[in-house]
Amino acid sequence: MTPVIAETREELAAARARVRGTLALVPTMGALHEGHRSLIRRARRSADAVAVSIFVNPLQFGPGEDFDRYPRTFATDVEACAAEGADIVFAPGREVMYPAEPQVTVKSGPMGARVEGASRPGHFDGMLTVVLKLFHLVLPDIAVFGEKDAQQLAMIRRMVTDLNVPVEIVGGPTVREPDGLALSSRNRYLSDGERRTALALSRALRAGADAVAGGPGAIRDAARAVLDKAAAAEPPLELDYLALVDPATFTEVADARTGPAVLAVAGRVGTTHLIDNVPLHLGAPKEH
Ligand code: PAF
Repeated sequence: MTPVIAETREELAAARARVRGTLALVPTMGALHEGHRSLIRRARRSADAVAVSIFVNPLQFGPGEDFDRYPRTFATDVEACAAEGADIVFAPGREVMYPAEPQVTVKSGPMGARVEGASRPGHFDGMLTVVLKLFHLVLPDIAVFGEKDAQQLAMIRRMVTDLNVPVEIVGGPTVREPDGLALSSRNRYLSDGERRTALALSRALRAGADAVAGGPGAIRDAARAVLDKAAAAEPPLELDYLALVDPATFTEVADARTGPAVLAVAGRVGTTHLIDNVPLHLGAPKEH
C-alpha cells in the first residue's frame, strides 16, 4: 500500500479527516532504519491507522552540530513506510513547520539541562517544541518513540503530563546490530575503524548491566573500564557522559538506590555523536 504523502498542512488535514478510528504517529527525522520500522509496526498494533512524520528539525540542532549533513533519504524512507503499512507520511518543509521564527517555544526545564541536555544545550527545548507542533498538526491518539533516546522519551512523557496533552506515549525497544551497536541514522557517518570504536558504547552498557548485583558503584566502574579502554583506542572514543539515572527525572541515582534506573552513555567518534542506554533494575530482582 502506498501511503498518502502530505507536505502541507492542508494536505495533512485532508488525510487526517479520512482516518477512521484511532491514529498513531511515529515522529522521525527520516533516514529510516530497522529501528524506525519496528516503531511503525508497534504503531500499527496500537491504532487503526499510522502516520509517520519526516522532518529534520533545525530547532533541536546546536551550532556546529550535524543539521546540514544529517542524512536525507526521502525516496527510500517512503518505501520503508509503504512496506510497513503506514497510511500517511507527513513530510513538511521548513516553511510549513516554521512559517516565521517561533517566539513561543517549549522549555524543557531542569530535566532538559541534565545528561544529554548538558552536552547539547537547547536540544530538548527544540525537540519538545517540534513534537508538540506535530501533535497539534497530526492530532494523533498515540505517539510512538524509540527507547534508544531514553531521555527524549522521558521528556515527552513529562511534557504530555505537565501540559495535559491528550496523546498516549508509547516506547519501542532499541534495535541493535548483531554485534550490539544500537541502530541510529548517524551510524552511516562511521568509517569501519570508527564503527569498531563505537561498539564500546554498547559493550560498556553490557558490562554495567552484568555488574548490577554490586549496585550503582560497581555498575559505573564496570562501564567506565570499557570506556577508558576505548578512549585510548585509535580512533578514540571521546566520552560525553556516563550516567546512571532515575528514568523519570534523569538525576544520578544514589548508592543505596533500589528500583528502576537507566545507564546512559554518549560519546563522539570522529565527528559523530552517538548515544545508547540500557534499563536496569537495582536492588532485589524485580518480581514478575
Ligand atoms: O527522535 C527523533 O528523530 C527526533 O528527535 C524527533 C522526535 C522526530 C523530533 O524531531
